[in-house]
Amino acid sequence: MTTAAVDPDRAKNWLVRLRPLISQHRWPFALALVLSFAGLVLQVQIPDLLNRAIDASVVRHAVPLSFYARWIGGLGAAGAVTGYVSRLLLFRTAYDVEYDLRTLIYEHLTQLSFPFYDRVQSGQLISRANSDIRSVQMYVTFAPLILVQCAIAVVAFGYMLSIDVLLALVGMSTMPLVYVVGVRMRRDMFPVSWLIQARLADVATIVDENVNGVRVVRAFAAEPQQLRALDRAARAVRWGYVKDADLRARWTPAVQNLPQVGLALVLLFGGWLVLQGRLGIGAILAFNAYLLMLQAPFMMLGMLVMMGQRAAASADRIYEILDEQPTVIDQPDAASLSRVRGDVRLESVDFAYAGGPLVLRGLDLHLRPGETVAMVGRTGSGKSTVARLLPRFYDVDAGAVTLDGVDVRDVTLVSLRANVGVVLDEPFLFSASIRENIAYGRPEASSEDLQAAARAAGAEDFVVDLPEGYDTVVGERGYTLSGGQRQRIAIARTLLVNPPVLVLDDATSAVDVQVELDIHAALRTLMRGRTTLIVAHRLSTIGLADRVVVLDGGRIVADGTHAELLATSSLYGEILAQADGDGRTDGATVTSRRH
Ligand SMILES: Nc1ncnc2c1ncn2[C@@H]1O[C@H](COP(=O)(O)OP(=O)(O)O)[C@@H](O)[C@H]1O
Ligand SMILES: [Mg+2]
Repeated sequence: MTTAAVDPDRAKNWLVRLRPLISQHRWPFALALVLSFAGLVLQVQIPDLLNRAIDASVVRHAVPLSFYARWIGGLGAAGAVTGYVSRLLLFRTAYDVEYDLRTLIYEHLTQLSFPFYDRVQSGQLISRANSDIRSVQMYVTFAPLILVQCAIAVVAFGYMLSIDVLLALVGMSTMPLVYVVGVRMRRDMFPVSWLIQARLADVATIVDENVNGVRVVRAFAAEPQQLRALDRAARAVRWGYVKDADLRARWTPAVQNLPQVGLALVLLFGGWLVLQGRLGIGAILAFNAYLLMLQAPFMMLGMLVMMGQRAAASADRIYEILDEQPTVIDQPDAASLSRVRGDVRLESVDFAYAGGPLVLRGLDLHLRPGETVAMVGRTGSGKSTVARLLPRFYDVDAGAVTLDGVDVRDVTLVSLRANVGVVLDEPFLFSASIRENIAYGRPEASSEDLQAAARAAGAEDFVVDLPEGYDTVVGERGYTLSGGQRQRIAIARTLLVNPPVLVLDDATSAVDVQVELDIHAALRTLMRGRTTLIVAHRLSTIGLADRVVVLDGGRIVADGTHAELLATSSLYGEILAQADGDGRTDGATVTSRRH
């Protein structure tokens, strides 16, 4: 957990809102700035010393040269040390700020409710967050550094004035031009660099799809088509880079050589002053050094404006996430639910997804303790939605969901979810060992418990045959396992938590009939002694249930045993006929558990 925070007041300016976060690092940050200022002050002395050395040692022979050489060498060394420490501190601060922002965002994302994830594309959100974090971090840490450098420019100018006022003004005359040209250059190049970023992302997407969708590409012999798409995208990137190089080639020589104009003026005017005997010859050398020193801050000042605009836009996107409040949260006085008997009720439930039409309207459903109920309905009738309401992934708009008579909104989410286990249709496995995946909900579980769960889920047989057994790491999303194997791991995972209420959403829809039979054996074990709501398509799944309910138009329209529903509900027959393409709707294969 991070202690970092941003100011929650949305009305404030983005930098002000960031203050609590930055102030956690204020001491190393302040020290870095002070040291870099000190280092620059040392640096500013050097041209002045050079001026004196030439005057006093070379021209007048009054002081030995080694005196100035030692001073200049010493200042250089001191500058190197302060430069090292200040950079170290500054980069530390920068990456600390980045770490804080990143942790803050990720912690916040883990707390946000499902409606948020419905609205945004989370993958894109996270990758975008990375570049946004970087641009905010760069600005808040490097903008002050640039300002310090500009401050030192003032000091340098002071020195120049102290040597000769008129010559200082002449020397500086090209600086406004350096600034303007710098701003122009960035303004020209900035859109191109954005364009290149976007086009690189396009290429990455195509490559990514080629890798992940390699089977589809090969199956349709679509390689030439993919290569053409890649070629188009790669050409677009190349165009961007060539354009960028063109702009760079055009601007850089101008920007780099502009100060030479100032230098020429200094030589011309300063040389005249020297010839007149009004100025020492060393002054011209000192001015040369000062002008080179001043060039960088003036150019960076232009960059600062650009960075600021970009950081502000990035900060807005970051705040968009951080300002989002979780909607499904514990009430202040939420009680902890102890182990329930498993009496589940949905009472006159209305539900709509954010901004959408009502999906459930006045839905009533009662699951008695220990009972297995199959829910069927057309695609889009709201079966998954009902399944999501039991563990309170969403809150109902009207009515209530109760567990042993207690409204799910009145208990803590942790205790509710310990009582309601969910197996989803697309079982997600983490890139970790099978052991870790099964123990996900109970990391402290003993090996015996874990293996018992795997055995009951019908997973043990294939797991022990794997090269490293339970320690086999399953790949990204568990792709190295088949769908049925993944499903059994997911069932073992839920079984280990041992929840009294179980929700299975289409848990076997993705697997073939043979695998389904294996899983059903596991499911039977899983459902024993629990209240189970199972979203079913196939007749074989319905066979696991004591009772069947039919969902249509946002409510339960039929309720009874399979045989009863076949006799009374034409919709039920229709749904079964559609789901089981083989038309086994005569009930012959259905073996109900208790009826
Ligand atoms: N996350 C969501 N956001 C918005 N609408 C959704 C979401 N999930 C489902 N829906 C809509 O709610 C309705 C019911 O969907 P769902 O419960 O998934 O049906 P089923 O599982 O019966 O196929 C559908 O119209 C669907 O488009
Ligand atoms: Mg569904």
